[in-house]
Amino acid sequence: MKRLIAGNWKMNGLRAALGEVEDLSGRLTAEDLERSDVLVCPPVTLLGALAGLKLPNVAMGAQDCHAAVSGAHTGDVAAEMLAEAGASHVIVGHSERRADHGESDAVVKAKAEAVHRAGLVPIVCVGETLEEREAGRAVEIVTSQVNGSMPSTDGEVVVAYEPVWAIGTGKTPTTDDIAEIHAALRGVLGEGVRLLYGGSVKPGNAAEILAVPNVNGALVGGASLKAADFYGIISA
Ligand code: PGA
Repeated sequence: MKRLIAGNWKMNGLRAALGEVEDLSGRLTAEDLERSDVLVCPPVTLLGALAGLKLPNVAMGAQDCHAAVSGAHTGDVAAEMLAEAGASHVIVGHSERRADHGESDAVVKAKAEAVHRAGLVPIVCVGETLEEREAGRAVEIVTSQVNGSMPSTDGEVVVAYEPVWAIGTGKTPTTDDIAEIHAALRGVLGEGVRLLYGGSVKPGNAAEILAVPNVNGALVGGASLKAADFYGIISA
């Protein structure tokens, strides 16, 4: 399965940061692109400007959307608006949104269905907390999240396993632990769904993580902000 290497910029980046995407685009070789689809999800304010660069080898995604097409939802953005801006993917249910905005599995599922309605691909995020892992409940939690968050609509879906305790901390699970979760996800989702790992992926650990069975790519936060680091992961 072709890998997907996706960058999640979170709430980082003013217009000048788009130079990093141009730099990245210039580094990507035909061989890189044969192995991996490359996606950058900048803040929503940069979508228009990034689309305007018309980079041929870097796709663009968004980090969240509202479930409705339109309406009285101040500050929210509909999936159709993201599609018009040029996004191909939308991250839904990132643990920071589940924590900061109280998003339940049902909310994430509705958002993923909205992404399909707009003709885009949702990247549905799941992952256990440290407390849940230490209690031996990681597989149970992640399985229950994915069962509750998957869209019932037809269309491509990407799932990202991101242990909450590994995000932005420099800590990663062992490759055996990643393999266990990804095998469980594969069991629930079947073949054909790309399963990404996310949480402190860096150039130095990417090759090892991307070689784990049932890992079909990575969702990268901090290390996606600089072209050299992100390219180091893509070329791993
Ligand atoms: P990180 O973030 O790579 O900075 O740990 C990953 C994510 O939250 O998607």
